[in-house]
Amino acid sequence: MDTQQTYKRIIYLREELNKHNHQYYVLAKPLISDFDYDLLMMELTSLEKKYPEFTDTSSPSSRVGSDLNKEFEQASHRWPMLSLSNSYSKDEIAEFYQRVKKSVPETVPFVCEYKFDGVSISLTYKKGKLVEALTRGDGIVGDVVTDNIKTIKSIPLELQGNEIPDEITARGEIYMPRSGFYKYNEQRLLNGEDTLANPRNGAAGSIKLQNSSAVAKRPLDCYIYFILGDQLPFNNHLDNLKKAKEWGFRTSDTIKYCDKIEDVFAFIDETANKKNTLDYDIDGVVIKADSYDHRERLGFTAKTPRWAIAYKFPAEQVCTKLLSVVFQVGRTGAVTPVANLEPVQLAGTSVKRATLHNADQIKSLDLHEGDMVYVEKGGEIIPKIIRVEASSRHAISKPVAFIENCPDCHTALIRNEGEAAYYCPNEDGCPTQIKGKMEHFISRKAMNINAAEATIDLLYTNGFLKNIADLYSLEKSKIEHLERFGSKSAQNLIESIEASKENPFHRVLFALGIRYVGETVAKKLAQHFGSIDNIMKATTDELIAADEIGERIAESVQDFFKSEKNVLLIQKLKDVGLKMIAEAKDSSQSSNKLEGKSYVISGTFTRYSRERLKELIDEHGGKNTSSISSKTDFLLAGDDMGPKKLEKAKQLGIKIISEMDFIKAIE
Ligand code: IVH
Repeated sequence: MDTQQTYKRIIYLREELNKHNHQYYVLAKPLISDFDYDLLMMELTSLEKKYPEFTDTSSPSSRVGSDLNKEFEQASHRWPMLSLSNSYSKDEIAEFYQRVKKSVPETVPFVCEYKFDGVSISLTYKKGKLVEALTRGDGIVGDVVTDNIKTIKSIPLELQGNEIPDEITARGEIYMPRSGFYKYNEQRLLNGEDTLANPRNGAAGSIKLQNSSAVAKRPLDCYIYFILGDQLPFNNHLDNLKKAKEWGFRTSDTIKYCDKIEDVFAFIDETANKKNTLDYDIDGVVIKADSYDHRERLGFTAKTPRWAIAYKFPAEQVCTKLLSVVFQVGRTGAVTPVANLEPVQLAGTSVKRATLHNADQIKSLDLHEGDMVYVEKGGEIIPKIIRVEASSRHAISKPVAFIENCPDCHTALIRNEGEAAYYCPNEDGCPTQIKGKMEHFISRKAMNINAAEATIDLLYTNGFLKNIADLYSLEKSKIEHLERFGSKSAQNLIESIEASKENPFHRVLFALGIRYVGETVAKKLAQHFGSIDNIMKATTDELIAADEIGERIAESVQDFFKSEKNVLLIQKLKDVGLKMIAEAKDSSQSSNKLEGKSYVISGTFTRYSRERLKELIDEHGGKNTSSISSKTDFLLAGDDMGPKKLEKAKQLGIKIISEMDFIKAIE
């Protein structure tokens, strides 16, 4: 790679890692395995080390991911919450051991622990009472999730015993036991509700729920593995952990004290053998220097302590039979192959499907019908096929062929130069694409129109919707007689469509479903250009000049508006009254009428959706939080609001206002 190419690669890796950080920490919906994430991070750190001229202080390599969620209040960590350096190789663990010995030549006692695979939490106790629970956030500031955490029974609200310092911070991992996870999902299935993808996502999603009584229903637990404070009883980790157990914390029984590297390796091997029999997920072993004096002498790098390292278990693999390959079309027309597999147990769950990404992957695997395939599941997300067992292949079996025609509308597929994916080019005639675009248009973060997938399907099949603009000419009297519709639901739909006209321009732009124009990009474009007309006439250079807009996005935006059909669609959407001009808030705040005021929204509303109310608070300089505290100024109360919130607001003497009061306040 020449320098130019290296720079490009660094930028690409940073973008990818930022995206995956967001998926993992904010959305709790990882797209790739920990292993693949670590590979990307390793490549980036090694390139940045080799080419210091490309150093950037905001590179994902220089920070701990973020799980900040705007809904929660935030607070600073008294001690930053760092992460651990990771390794998949025992040689590197031996190197770590040698490095430590060099700095601290006397015998270094280590402590080996399980690396719990949940979500970390920092608990502060003052005078023995739990006062605050913070998520990791960006390591410096975290979300205040105290109410949610209090629902976890194994976390003490008040400490017992002696020698309790005035202030301590206990850190640990919140997790969902496997047994609890299965039971919970079973019950959800019986109720016809969505299930949790895996225990880790279950834990991460639960502590971010807005409603702590819903958290209480989730089977969560916690292990404490780190105690911090100015006046701890002992000068080493293990004794303080033992003391913490006396105070009422739940600590692991499987901690091993090791003063030889052989003991460390023995613990790693033992744990690897045991890990699938435990009632919780672990993804490795953490090795820590026990003595605080040693820790002080070893110190920290920018984001990890030099006194600890995590050995991560390699992703597990199993062999199973490929039953079939099916092809799915997305809203952009991209066709994705998915493998159906003979169900097999892998890392505690049953695997039936695996992603195949694209045609190139099918080819490079040399996948044949009925092959025995090795499936890997890192971080317990959608598994993938990593190789095939060609030796057990039947001589007459045929290679898996990528389809040539769209599985829905049968149009011949095309492949753009330089792209891995095949597309169905029949944008205007392929039902799956048309419905997919409509579903995107009405989705919560786009136009937030209250209609289920089945409703869109019904309206489409009955000829009421040919494109998204048709939504705005639906008439109650025509649709209320459709099967499953009634007067009330038709009315609700029409009202919800009408209300969507209030959405700000950046949401309309996002809702259009232009390739690569996600929520953030739509906001940036709206802010920079101020209107759809300006975006439509912008040149590539002008587009690229906007914050965060690269060539790929610029090209896609121009392609979209090159199409006469899309220009016509925009005109129709303008005519029905959708906002195509950014309001004041896209460039600056609408007003500062709510400055310094903190709001909690609860219940359902008639004029605006909750999403829009939150935006309005933001636009007028106020702050929106999810839970009521003494710092809340107003409770914006809608219909059917939770009685607990109301009661708490009353207790704390917080002013309760209606949607009308709020509208008056901002007008
Ligand atoms: S000690 C300075 N001990 O692993 C870091 N962490 O990347 C101190 N974790 O975010 C962390 N089990 O959520 C420690 N026994 C254990 C752990 C553990 C799981 C997680 C923790 C942290 C991540 C480190």
